[in-house]
Amino acid sequence: MLEEFGQPLAVGDVELEEPHAGEVLVRLAACGVCHTDLYTASGADPSGYAPAVLGHEGAGVVERVGEGVGSLAPGDHVVTLFSPQCRECVHCLSPKTNLCLAIREQQNLGYLPDGTTRLHRGGERIRHFMGTSTFAECTVMPEIALAKIDPAAPMDRACLFACGLSTGLGAAINTAKVEPGSTCVVFGAGLVGLGAVAGCRLQGADRIVAVDLSEDRLELARGQGATDALIGGPDSVAQVLAITGGFGADYTFEATGNVAVMRQAVEAARMGWGLCTVAGVAGKGQTLDIVPRFLITGRRVAGSSFGGVKGRDQVPELVRRWLDGDIDVDPLISHRITLDEVNRGFELMEGQDGIRSVIEYS
Ligand SMILES: NC(=O)c1ccc[n+]([C@@H]2O[C@H](COP(=O)([O-])OP(=O)(O)OC[C@H]3O[C@@H](n4cnc5c(N)ncnc54)[C@H](O)[C@@H]3O)[C@@H](O)[C@H]2O)c1
Ligand SMILES: [Zn+2]
Ligand SMILES: [Zn+2]
Repeated sequence: MLEEFGQPLAVGDVELEEPHAGEVLVRLAACGVCHTDLYTASGADPSGYAPAVLGHEGAGVVERVGEGVGSLAPGDHVVTLFSPQCRECVHCLSPKTNLCLAIREQQNLGYLPDGTTRLHRGGERIRHFMGTSTFAECTVMPEIALAKIDPAAPMDRACLFACGLSTGLGAAINTAKVEPGSTCVVFGAGLVGLGAVAGCRLQGADRIVAVDLSEDRLELARGQGATDALIGGPDSVAQVLAITGGFGADYTFEATGNVAVMRQAVEAARMGWGLCTVAGVAGKGQTLDIVPRFLITGRRVAGSSFGGVKGRDQVPELVRRWLDGDIDVDPLISHRITLDEVNRGFELMEGQDGIRSVIEYS
C-alpha cells in the first residue's frame, strides 16, 4: 500500500468490503509491476493520491459478484482493466476510440463509481488506484473493468495483457492499423515497444526496425519479429532514413515517454503518409516539438491509450492469439516475486533489469 509519496510501499492488512451493485470481488493470481505504479509512488504524478493500494496489471479469478452483475460469475478468469468498457457511452458505441466515459471522474479520484471505497483501515478510506488496486490478494472492481479470458491462459503471463503488452499490440493493430508489407520503426523496446513490434508482425509488416539504448532489449525485439535493430541516439532519424531509401517509415511508434524521442518518431515517418503513433507517457508539463513542415508534407501523429483496445471485447481476443501461439509472452517476464517483495520490483524496474517483474499470489 502507498502510505506516503516517495516512501517504499507498505505491505499489511486492510479491510475489503463485499462488492456493491455492479461490482465484483476478484482473487488475484498475478500482477505485473509497471512504471505507472512507480510514477505514482514516487510522488512525481501531481494527480496521485494516498493512502491507496497500487497495482493495475492484474489477473485473477472472480470470487463473488454484487447485485445486478450479469456478465461474470464466480470462477471466471479475468484480466483487470484500468481502461473500462461500459458498452453504452458515446465513446464505447463508437469504433473510433476505447476511452470509455462511464466511470472516469470517480476512477481518477481513486473511488469506485458510486464515489466511495471498498478499502478501509479502521475508519479511514483507502483509495483504489486506477480503479484496480491489484497489489493485493483480493480487490473489488466494477464489472465493466474486467475482461473475461480463457481459463486455459496461465495467469502469471495473462496479467501482462492488463497494460503494457496490450498497449503495444493495440498501438499497431488498432491505432495505426499497420498494413501488410509496410515498414515500421518502434522507438523503445520495453514491454510497450516489444508489444508494438509483435503487433506490427501480426499485421504483416515487411520490415520492423527496433530502436533502443540496450542491446539486450534489441535482442528481445528480434525475438518479437524485429528485422532490424538500431542503438538509439541523436542520429536515429538519419539512420532510419538511410535504411528506408531516404524516405522514412510508413509507421513509427514511440514507446519511451521521452519527448525528444517522440520528435524523432515524427521525423522518421515517411513523407506523404507516414503515421507516428505516440504511446509513451511524457512527464508532467512536457511538450512535443514538431516542425509543422513535417505535417504539411503528409505525416500524421496519433496518440494511443491502452493501444485503443476496448478491453472487454479485445483483451480476450489478444489472449486467444497468445494461446494460439501468435504472441510469445514468456521472454517478457524476467522476475517472479511475492507481494512482500513489491519494492524490489520497483528497484528492478529502475535498474532496467528485465522487462517485467510479476508478483504471484499463492
Ligand atoms: N499509452 C498507454 O496507455 C501506456 C500504457 C503503459 C505504458 N505507457 C508508457 O509507455 C512507455 C513505455 O513503457 P514501458 O513499460 O515499455 O517502459 P520501459 O522503460 O520498459 O521501456 C522504455 C524503453 O525506451 C528505451 N529508450 C530510452 N531512451 C531511448 C532513446 N533515446 N532511444 C530509443 N530508446 C530509448 C529504454 O532503453 C527502454 O528500453 C512509458 O512512457 C509508459 O509510461 C503508456
Ligand atoms: Zn501499466
Ligand atoms: Zn463506455
